[in-house]
Amino acid sequence: MPSGPLRARIRVPGDKSISHRALMLGALAVGETRATGLLEGEDVLATAAAMRAMGAQVEKRGDTWHIDGVGVGGLLQPAQALDMGNSGTSTRLLMGLVASHGITAAFTGDASLSKRPMGRVIEPLSRMGASFTSSPGGTLPLMMEGLCPAVPIEYRLPVASAQVKSAVLLAGLNTPGITTVIEPVPTRDHSERMLRGFGAELEIEETGGERAIRIRGEADLRPQTIEVPGDPSSAAFFLVAASVVEGSDLVIENVGLNPTRAGLVLVLRQMGASIEELDAREVGGEPVADLRVRHAPLTGIDVDPAIAPSMIDEFPVLFVAAALAQGTTRTSGLEELRVKESDRLAAMAAALAAAGARVEETADGLVIEGTGGAPLSGTGDGSPIVTHLDHRIAMAMAVAGLASSGGVAIDDTRPIATSFPDFEALLESAAR
Ligand code: S3P
Repeated sequence: MPSGPLRARIRVPGDKSISHRALMLGALAVGETRATGLLEGEDVLATAAAMRAMGAQVEKRGDTWHIDGVGVGGLLQPAQALDMGNSGTSTRLLMGLVASHGITAAFTGDASLSKRPMGRVIEPLSRMGASFTSSPGGTLPLMMEGLCPAVPIEYRLPVASAQVKSAVLLAGLNTPGITTVIEPVPTRDHSERMLRGFGAELEIEETGGERAIRIRGEADLRPQTIEVPGDPSSAAFFLVAASVVEGSDLVIENVGLNPTRAGLVLVLRQMGASIEELDAREVGGEPVADLRVRHAPLTGIDVDPAIAPSMIDEFPVLFVAAALAQGTTRTSGLEELRVKESDRLAAMAAALAAAGARVEETADGLVIEGTGGAPLSGTGDGSPIVTHLDHRIAMAMAVAGLASSGGVAIDDTRPIATSFPDFEALLESAAR
């Protein structure tokens, strides 16, 4: 819907990546881990249910999540298939954990998750000794059997993926000796930070831009108290909304600004956005600040593909910013967007075109001709945007709707609950 300026102080929910990892590592420590600020979206709840199914006690009392772990090596065989819903992170990281336990587990998911490639984790985890029966094309549903003791490997990531990196490191936790992951391009490092926080022996060596991460297995993890910072990927929708809606002046409190996640802030600033970092501090071992964002005219740019891993989930909403900027924005090197919750290049090209933007899809990016700040036409009385069970397409196009004359209709807003259950209410309250 067309909107008034966003003028408020808001908080976005806890970081999804950190929330998954807090539950998983808490479930592997001996004793009680406590987490506050945990995201209570469906993806994270799928991880919580899986950890319970494998023996951990996970419950919320008051504002705090209590996780009573089974110890590294102590996961139990789940009695039923693990239903991962829409969550690629739950699936791939848990496959890593199961790989080095002597248990069998089946993984299922929704229509979106069942199309996503699991070969990228099956391959290294097979080298460590796990065995898999997947659906054709290496997808869910799949059944796997872990091996204990597993075999330590040295693995160079063929794709820039924090999920693959984390799957191998988590498998390495219960593997004798040293498991090594080499990443040619840095990806989000929450697993490394948190593994160290829980007391695992983990070394990182940087040479010529590459990072070698070594974890010593058969670790004893000590329970932790974790404060989960706000999710920069959720804040992203509000950063763009306030940038493009005239008269906006919004403060988003407590946003995680880990450099491996903060690419969108840099790119929006290159486009002319006004984003100030206030009260920079550290929360739960992660850099955090309050972000003040004011409306500012944006200019199209060529986005450096090297920055992609640090804003990989933010492209749908960046494309919306580009559609409202002055001039052309070109993106490239984004093949990975085709295997997210949807093919985000195709989905956003179709969605933006339907909302009146000028957009061209290439093999590895979008080229977008902005309106120079004029509102998009919106979907008006036309067909609603097809979101393909992808929460970020739905939220990005809701932001486009704020800067449209006719509003943007969306076919299905339910997937938003996977990562940001209160999104619509928060947007309405900020734009009142
Ligand atoms: C995530 C890593 C990214 C990201 C996903 C969360 C994580 O996926 O897109 O939303 O928590 O490790 P890839 O590692 O597949 O790029």
